[in-house]
Amino acid sequence: MTTQSAPAPRPVYLDNNATTRVDERVVAAMLPFFTEQFGNPSSMHAFGAHVGGAVKQAREQVQALLGAAHDHEIVFTSGGTESDNAALASALEANSGRTEIVTSIVEHPAILAKCEHLEKTRGAKVHVIPVDKQGRLDLDAYRKALSDKTAIVSIMWANNETGTINPVAELAEMAKDVGALFHTDAVQAVGKVPIDLKSTAIDMLSLSGHKLHGPKGIGALYIRRGVRFKSQSKGGHQERGRRAGTENVPGIVGLGCAAELARTTLGADMARIAALRDRLEKGLLQRIGSCFITGDPMSRLPNTCNIAFEYIEGEAILLLLNREGIAASSGSACTSGSLEPSHVMRALGVPYTAAHGATRFSFSRDSTDADVDQVIAVMPGIIARLRELSPFWSNGAADTQSFQPTYA
Ligand SMILES: Cc1ncc(COP(=O)(O)O)c(C=O)c1O
Repeated sequence: MTTQSAPAPRPVYLDNNATTRVDERVVAAMLPFFTEQFGNPSSMHAFGAHVGGAVKQAREQVQALLGAAHDHEIVFTSGGTESDNAALASALEANSGRTEIVTSIVEHPAILAKCEHLEKTRGAKVHVIPVDKQGRLDLDAYRKALSDKTAIVSIMWANNETGTINPVAELAEMAKDVGALFHTDAVQAVGKVPIDLKSTAIDMLSLSGHKLHGPKGIGALYIRRGVRFKSQSKGGHQERGRRAGTENVPGIVGLGCAAELARTTLGADMARIAALRDRLEKGLLQRIGSCFITGDPMSRLPNTCNIAFEYIEGEAILLLLNREGIAASSGSACTSGSLEPSHVMRALGVPYTAAHGATRFSFSRDSTDADVDQVIAVMPGIIARLRELSPFWSNGAADTQSFQPTYA
């Protein structure tokens, strides 16, 4: 007797805020820079000159995507984390009289952990601004935190978990009024929303290649012309003395190509992606009870959907989705053996009963209608099965008395 195993489910990748697939055109653009065009852009000879030209073209492609005034305002880095770290550290070094940082409670750890580090090592005072239930910044608290001691404000353009978009242009104007630098972590926004830095007061902006179908380990920091910047790496004079070290040429060329593709397809791609996202949300909310969308429905990235399913664990949802070939992400982080909801869900005050079950689906230009159909087909069954197993959910109703919230 022969046994036949069930066919593997069609893979569905809806975790594009974690990383995206590198576009084939990006790979094709990068390949010659590993072999034929291997020169060092700093070299005087022809091998170097050609490669230097490719780096310049990539800088212009990133400049165009950001609507920056000059290509020299783009400094290539290893990614979002390095750009974020460098912006904060430089601002404190370059503005010796100013010792304070203003940031938000829902920033990525690349900002929050660096702020903590600067507090300990440089004596910086950090103001962490809260957000409301939809992840919107508390503008009164923001205004009060700004002063002539503020060296830098760092507020993300869009949140990676909920997609909530901040009014960064307005926030940058307010920072400018007190003479502070304004940095934004735009890792999740670049390539998803139109950006025109020329028309804003934003001084610095971080982006990362792998979030927009470019390679991993490459990113950029935009530094407005005239902003004093202290390099955080010492050694060579690359990137006009702002980032020492031989350039990652294939990565830079790949990022340039990804930026060009994003710029030329953004409008059409994002309209299609938003429609997919909306269909998924509608389909799930219609079929599944006791769940809700987190984030700001009025001002949200077009590709991000985060739904909190009450009375279940996000990790369990992800495991069962994975069995169906579907990749998503959860708002929980397994720390010290206990599954705690993410700092973002806690900051929004999402009830304990729901924060655990927060599940993020994030789309890209690779996403299709079939992906949405597959999630809508399996998700109601997964949620029903997990709720049957939940000690807090019996006979289709929640035993809310049994919950012991661990945070306010
Ligand atoms: C908002 C945000 N900032 C920074 C980063 C870090 O970027 P990178 O992975 O390029 O270091 C990420 C990555 O997930 C992010 O989502």
